[in-house]
Amino acid sequence: MQAATTTYNPVTPKVLGELKAIVGERNLFTDEEKIEPYSHDETNAEEYGHMPEVVVTPGTPEDIAKIVKLANRELIPITPSGARSGLSGGCIPVHGGIVISFEKMASVIEVDYDNLMIEVEAGMVTNEVNEIVGERGLWFAGYPMSLQSCYVGGNIAENAGGGKAVKYGVTERYVMGLEVVTPTGEIVRLGGKLTKDVTGYNLKQLIVGSEGTLGIVTKVILKLSGVPTATSNLLVLFETPKEAIDIVPVVLGKGLVPTSLEFMDKLSVQTACKYLNESLPYENCGAMLLVEADGTDPAQVERDAEAIGDICMDHGAQEVYVADNKTTQERIWAVRRNIAEAFKVYSPVQSLEDIVVPISAIPDIIPELERIANKYDITIPCYGHAGDGNLHATLVKNPAHSNEQWLEIEKKALHDLYEVTTRLGGKISGEHGIGIKRKGYMKELMDPNELELMQAIKRAWDPNNIMNPGKLIDIV
Ligand code: LAC
Ligand code: ZN
Repeated sequence: MQAATTTYNPVTPKVLGELKAIVGERNLFTDEEKIEPYSHDETNAEEYGHMPEVVVTPGTPEDIAKIVKLANRELIPITPSGARSGLSGGCIPVHGGIVISFEKMASVIEVDYDNLMIEVEAGMVTNEVNEIVGERGLWFAGYPMSLQSCYVGGNIAENAGGGKAVKYGVTERYVMGLEVVTPTGEIVRLGGKLTKDVTGYNLKQLIVGSEGTLGIVTKVILKLSGVPTATSNLLVLFETPKEAIDIVPVVLGKGLVPTSLEFMDKLSVQTACKYLNESLPYENCGAMLLVEADGTDPAQVERDAEAIGDICMDHGAQEVYVADNKTTQERIWAVRRNIAEAFKVYSPVQSLEDIVVPISAIPDIIPELERIANKYDITIPCYGHAGDGNLHATLVKNPAHSNEQWLEIEKKALHDLYEVTTRLGGKISGEHGIGIKRKGYMKELMDPNELELMQAIKRAWDPNNIMNPGKLIDIV
């Protein structure tokens, strides 16, 4: 086995010349001002950011393959970069080197209405997929919350999940085929327009969620389905976060399948309302559930929503508000969608988490969050996809603590949070990924045999360790 390298070579003028010959002068940047945006994603730039040496914006997979071959020859790290809306540092060029950005690769390759699939380049904004096929009453149902800004390639890299995963699942369910430039610079097509395929290892699904460490996704075939024509939303108020969360396994345990079962504690709702200059009736409650039911039969959708509302009232909900028109639904969802952004504005020194546990274990999480918050004298507001067992606990710095104290506290509090999550049968990330932010905890909390299998895959695929190194796992 060839030893993986950790010492990379700089991008020399000679390498820059070769890169220019591949992508053209207009598609290469080295000015500090121009490359700075590629040094961070939505994680705290001061804590995690790192500058690349050069950014290229190629237009074809062939050009990307040439760049990857060059990087292998010269031992220069490559970081694929999409919309940079990630939340674990996956697109940050932690070792400098070359950033390959997808902004020039955003075309539709084919809309195949016979097979109900669309093939697009990886740089397409996710929402555009839904706009293209929306006129035929179709959508890509696995889209994440950030659909207005994120790229399809980023969704694949992170196996992104969104607010409708209870019913529709996450990205992986819709990925039928991929074109990938491998870490050694070969172009391969994985999967295809097939509903069944057991022809060998499922390499397509291995790429989904691999955070750009096993290759660069250049094209994606996504499965389409019919957009539900009827939707009903409930906003259910509870006195305490625990009461709201306790309902979740009760609802799902009865076999009801809402589209969404989102949880928001009072501080989360309040902060997003302030950010949007919006008002929801949160004054006298401790938490809310946002429930969505959808389908094609309005009466059935109403019955489904009503059944969930009834269970909530039977279990101590204070109030159930029904939002059955589009305007009110959009107002409520805008509050939910903007919580992360609002906390970023009002509490910029924070750690946004996305722990995931079995549904039956989420009631145990809320008291643990309170315990950890008290232990470290911080606040931990919480919201998220309760119906998936996936919660966005957000560790927020106490203004009384210094920045140094916070970094120490953040490390310890995250350790406690991840430890309790693992103990409850959960995992440290349900949708935002490991990236650089959580890599250290993988070693600590993952079965060493499982980790070794992951490392073996990385070594086999990327012998020179040039493909998005420093993310997910270390191999040396
Ligand atoms: C959300 C993002 C933070 O659910 O995952 O709002
Ligand atoms: Zn989320």
